[in-house]
Amino acid sequence: MRIGVLTGGGDCPGLNAVIRAIVRTSAHGPGHEIVGFRDGWRGPLEGVSEPLSLDSTRGILPRGGTILGSSRTNPFRAEEDPARVEATLREQRIDGLIVIGGEDTLGVANRFSERGVPVIGVPKTIDNDLGGTDMTFGFDTAVQVATDALDRLHTTAESHNRTIVVEVMGRHAGWIALHAGLAGGADAILVPEQPFALDDVVELIERRHRRGAYFSLVVVAEGAIAREGELETAAASIDQFGHARLGGIGMRLERALEERTGYETRAIVLGHLQRGGTPTAFDRVLATRLGHAAMVGADAQRWGTMAALRSTRVELVELAEAVRELRVVKPADLDVADALLGRVEG
Ligand code: F6P
Repeated sequence: MRIGVLTGGGDCPGLNAVIRAIVRTSAHGPGHEIVGFRDGWRGPLEGVSEPLSLDSTRGILPRGGTILGSSRTNPFRAEEDPARVEATLREQRIDGLIVIGGEDTLGVANRFSERGVPVIGVPKTIDNDLGGTDMTFGFDTAVQVATDALDRLHTTAESHNRTIVVEVMGRHAGWIALHAGLAGGADAILVPEQPFALDDVVELIERRHRRGAYFSLVVVAEGAIAREGELETAAASIDQFGHARLGGIGMRLERALEERTGYETRAIVLGHLQRGGTPTAFDRVLATRLGHAAMVGADAQRWGTMAALRSTRVELVELAEAVRELRVVKPADLDVADALLGRVEG
């Protein structure tokens, strides 16, 4: 068989480990030809691909990003584009496609699957918000980066008696904010799932001062929103899937908290630092297991499925099921944070 592979959406640490696992599982097993499509769905749309071999994937396990490139191309934007993708797959004699992506890229994969294209998904996103799997690779690395940043910011915040607001990624889900906030000992954690009241954040900071701690760390997910229109964020632009480019809540909080508390406040946006660089050992192993499972699934022609982590096992689940709903932070997931920090009411 000839198996195509593509990586789409925002990149994340561990993508290369998946590609390597696919190539190696095939090379040491069924011996299928592996074809890498460039830049997400742009590759099959424009017919841009390259053969992948043991040689071309050697040494990529610890490397961040993706050797195939990525994009947020949506091949369902123009009416004629899905047929162009299918024509490329026919021309290049592709028997099945392994699609490594998040909600949008796998959503597209599912639409092609419904049109009869043989696909298998592999879930990736630092946001950790994909349904059907207990975890996505890239998340552990992002949390580690954010935690390292919090450790550093802690010491400087304490030296200067400042409040520091740390904006982390997380468009719809606050997993990075929650986990990094817990690991880094934040004093307030603000997530998109639970609109926050500025008054509550101010109270958490003032209460620390009353108890003799003159510095605070506030972790805020980029998608977090304040209640009743306080601190509105503006969407700078919209991508091909209709998502707003977020960012700005950290800076708005900086100004509002300084004004309200009178304490010197600084904000930092961690942004793409969380997506770049070498994956943690955990993400390398998870990505490798998912890539292996996807290749085994392709060999067995288990099309229309997605490799997923369920508890400690990797298995194939229905792709349609996995893309139906995002896995967001539920109120119960915030219990530990609420108990340790004091509740910021939603
Ligand atoms: O891939 C997920 C993500 O990192 C989100 O957390 C973030 O909102 C978005 O991608 C940023 O995308 P871009 O790199 O296209 O600005």
